[in-house]
Amino acid sequence: MTDFALFDQAIARDQRIEPADEMPERYRSTMIRQIAQHAHSEIIGMQPEGEWITRAPTLRRKAILLAKVQDEAGHGLYLYSAAETLGADRGDLTQRLIEGRQKYSSIFNYPTLSFADVGVIGWLVDGAAICNQVPLCRSSYGPYARAMIRICKEESFHQRQGYELLLTMMSGTAAQRDMVQDAVDRWWWPSLMMFGPPDADSPNTAQSMAWKIKRHTNDELRQRFVDMSVPQAAELGVTLPDPELAWNASRDHYDFGQPDWDELRRVISGGGAMNEQRIARRRQADTDGAWVREAAAAHAAKNLEVAR
Ligand code: ACO
Repeated sequence: MTDFALFDQAIARDQRIEPADEMPERYRSTMIRQIAQHAHSEIIGMQPEGEWITRAPTLRRKAILLAKVQDEAGHGLYLYSAAETLGADRGDLTQRLIEGRQKYSSIFNYPTLSFADVGVIGWLVDGAAICNQVPLCRSSYGPYARAMIRICKEESFHQRQGYELLLTMMSGTAAQRDMVQDAVDRWWWPSLMMFGPPDADSPNTAQSMAWKIKRHTNDELRQRFVDMSVPQAAELGVTLPDPELAWNASRDHYDFGQPDWDELRRVISGGGAMNEQRIARRRQADTDGAWVREAAAAHAAKNLEVAR
């Protein structure tokens, strides 16, 4: 029996770990790391598409996009709350993000060059997010797993709106179809990188699988995403920019090429096209919002005083 016999037993029995349960310090810090990175990704992820809200081509598209970007803010907030159940402090997590001490998803460091990018982000980026996050609804940490249920439902709406937008553009003019193909060419490989490095180069996967935080490896989920996306691309009438993509009947899966892993390393360590701007905007928003947080804290303290 280890010091954490009840924890080990709960994991072995596939039960949830709850905030008040005893847990190894490394489990706690791994959960805070993953949940914080996930929360940061949702909040930073509002920027690439947010840039298109004022330029949406119709009122309907604007309303959809506004709702979607607001959902991302909500996801970030549930996730910061989940991290707080582990003893993390939201303000401290934000500070770590803007000082570059905590990561967020590589995918949000690419620019959104046309409105077709909004559709492709919905289809591919949110599609990849769903592939990765549906199994997280069974993650061993209760508050994270439960937050993920609602997040996945909303991500599903996001993916469908993206695909529907692309179907509309593909039935439009030749210029619109070209915009969609160009966006697919730019986002395909970064979407595959969202699942993380190959299993052989993933330092965290083995332990996170043993603790049932992750239910599948990075490569398993990447394969699932490719298998799901190929028929959707055919239906849409776009070409995925991978000459190695081919059905492999013996594996019952698509074979596919490898993303540029040096690019992933570069983007994760701050060298992507948009890293600097994304963090600068987040820092500015934090500074601009300081007075609201101070006023809310003063109001809460006053209410507490009155209640006494
Ligand atoms: N972008 C940025 N960092 C990444 C990425 C990526 N695409 N992939 C891996 N990393 C980081 C990991 O966070 C880890 O960093 P750290 O150890 O310094 O904290 C390092 O690279 C090594 O990777 P892994 O050992 O594979 O790390 P892990 O087991 O945590 O797996 C993964 C990475 C798959 C992203 C996992 O953390 C996860 O499933 N997270 C929850 C989902 C999520 O955060 N999604 C965000 C984007 S989706 C959206 O917001 C719409």
